[in-house]
Amino acid sequence: MSDFKIAPSILAADFARLGEEVSDVLEAGADIVHFDVMDNHYVPNLSVGPMVAKALRDYGITAPIDVHLMVEPVDTMITEFAKAGATYITFHPEASRHVDRSVGLIRDLGCKAGLVLNPATPLEVIKHVLPQLDMVLLMSVNPGFGGQKFIPYTLDKLKMARVMIDEMGLSTRLEVDGGITVNNIAEAAKAGADTFVAGSAIFGADDYRTVIKAMRDQLAM
Ligand code: DX5
Ligand code: ZN
Repeated sequence: MSDFKIAPSILAADFARLGEEVSDVLEAGADIVHFDVMDNHYVPNLSVGPMVAKALRDYGITAPIDVHLMVEPVDTMITEFAKAGATYITFHPEASRHVDRSVGLIRDLGCKAGLVLNPATPLEVIKHVLPQLDMVLLMSVNPGFGGQKFIPYTLDKLKMARVMIDEMGLSTRLEVDGGITVNNIAEAAKAGADTFVAGSAIFGADDYRTVIKAMRDQLAM
């Protein structure tokens, strides 16, 4: 039986009431806080930095915080987010000159490390470093914005990533991010994902508990 985790993306939350929003989704049944960091350089959008992650910790959020770095370069932000209380830190390999070194830095700082692949980035990129990763995050939209449509060909990539992880006998989490809804979460799970980021589908819903329960029901089918 798979251990599925639901990770609401804060990008779609009401930033003016972020602490409350995050505690509301956790209380409604979410497992992980997906924290999208954009620098208007690696991606054409700007979001929030380590001070905001620290503010969530200070507010009393104890759930895992999954920091998705869409920044270039990555190493300074890795250090700052580790200090701010990140649990997972994931980055895009294109954004680091020395991927192995950046992965090592995350682990040395006591956090869990992950690599994020854009829809068109081949899986080959993670092959050699996979045993050192706690998470592989496959983007199912191009990074930069919430509320985009799921790109169907990424399902094949999820299947291939699942085979790679299983063949190596690893327990690396396989996360999918972008356009996940109640209607396609089961398909993503069938393809091999075990961790599901959802921004607009959760924070855009009238009732967080109802939508998270609907997602879990889909995963149980
Ligand atoms: C996109 C971000 C996603 C985004 C997901 O660059 O990495 O985490 O917030 O939002 P939805 O679920 O609305 O596609
Ligand atoms: Zn993300």
